[in-house]
Amino acid sequence: MSTTTTTLSTLRELASLITTSIDTIESTYASRDVEFPSLAAHTFSPTDPAEKLRQDPVVSGAIQTIVAATAQLSAEVASPIVSGMQASQSYTKHFISACLNTALELNVVELLSEAGPGGMHAREIAAASKTDPGLIARVLRLLVTHHIFREVDTNVFANNRISAAFDKAKSPKELFEKPAERFDGSGSESLAALTEHMCTINFRSAAELTNTVIRTSPTDSSHSERILPFNKAFDTKLSFYAWLHQPENVLPFKRFALAMKGVSEMKPGDGILEGGFDWGSLPAGSQIVDVGSGNGQVSLHIARKYPELRIVNQDLASQIAGAEQYWRQNLPSHIDQDLVEFQGKFSPARCSYHPIIMIAHDFFTPQPVKDADIFLLRYITHNWQDDKVVQILQHLRHAAKPETRLVLIDDVVPGAARNTGSELDSANFNTRPVAPAPLLPNWGIAKAQTYYTDLIVRLVLQIMYLHLL
Ligand SMILES: C[S@@+](CC[C@H](N)C(=O)[O-])C[C@H]1O[C@@H](n2cnc3c(N)ncnc32)[C@H](O)[C@@H]1O
Repeated sequence: MSTTTTTLSTLRELASLITTSIDTIESTYASRDVEFPSLAAHTFSPTDPAEKLRQDPVVSGAIQTIVAATAQLSAEVASPIVSGMQASQSYTKHFISACLNTALELNVVELLSEAGPGGMHAREIAAASKTDPGLIARVLRLLVTHHIFREVDTNVFANNRISAAFDKAKSPKELFEKPAERFDGSGSESLAALTEHMCTINFRSAAELTNTVIRTSPTDSSHSERILPFNKAFDTKLSFYAWLHQPENVLPFKRFALAMKGVSEMKPGDGILEGGFDWGSLPAGSQIVDVGSGNGQVSLHIARKYPELRIVNQDLASQIAGAEQYWRQNLPSHIDQDLVEFQGKFSPARCSYHPIIMIAHDFFTPQPVKDADIFLLRYITHNWQDDKVVQILQHLRHAAKPETRLVLIDDVVPGAARNTGSELDSANFNTRPVAPAPLLPNWGIAKAQTYYTDLIVRLVLQIMYLHLL
């Protein structure tokens, strides 16, 4: 078979994957008598039945295939020169981030939400946000070009389903009058908070990646290990967490807290009950210590299903402070029966790595619970260099009884090679679904978020203890 025939057959296979996936979506929506949501809709609600059906495993699998196949199809057909030029100019994608952040910080989504489907003229948006009408129109038009917002008439803009997802659910008047309080809310602003966080902290840190990876000599560890891109971008020697706790960073602190709530919601804690460790095998009265628990949203799911288990939540004071209220709202019976503890809440010590952070329990200090049945660590280890992870685990080991077990949950980043039988490939793919050929086995850009998150942790978070002292 000639190369042209092989390539064309790949194109047809990709096109066929797209067509089959559209058929799957069509039949699933038809069987439930629901319309697939339109991009042109000017509102978005995650509880809308049409949006909820998108999370059905059959539909979400078909969507994943379409996203992966369309990107791969474009890569197959475009000229390598055009693809190469686009890759080398991918910084232009940063304009999307910059424009989106501008629109969010200027509360354009809420202005357009109030205006309704007829939209609002750039002149009026500029008057409300005290900006330049010409510039606002250009910023919004770039976003429209990437399917965020719609231009319903020349210089008249309206929300579409994507822009509406960023709605902070507050009136523009309130948002403009009290800008510092834009993220004090019910939590429906968490996607806006996450996006603003990514478009500022991660965006600026990413720009410093090259400047922090090059070693000046084989023994020089200052660039690759000691200084994170975040430190360079924000001209600070503090860790990201310590920087957030500076008095002048109250807004980024609140925004990050809300953003993390949004991330937790994307990865619901009840997943902890599916597969893996059998929580039901623990005898009544067993004690689970959730180390770095946040507000305890994960252990809450365990306690809800197995109400006879005792829970100890441990975290920094800033996290643990709101945890009791969260449990009182969601599982008051566990508090009333004294089955849940929020460790050290009334005796905050000084954090060992920064004088400003008051801590309730620092996992770099000896573990106070000596009779735990389970130490649970979810999404903790990825934030730290290996030697720091060893320290965290050693404190748990020293406090453990012979029967204590460790449940450690974190993401594994898969490779992008189709299984060649090597140890790495089998570790990557044996336990997870592989995309059908000719798609990349890791679903390409349809699952690229894993790789973004992996790099973000290295850019911003992977905390070197030493320069925090
Ligand atoms: C990614 S969150 C994971 C939260 C929770 N385990 C979950 O799965 O949703 C990491 C947590 O580690 C906490 N943390 C960071 N440094 C800590 C320290 N030195 N001692 C205790 N907790 C810490 C953070 O406050 C945060 O709540």
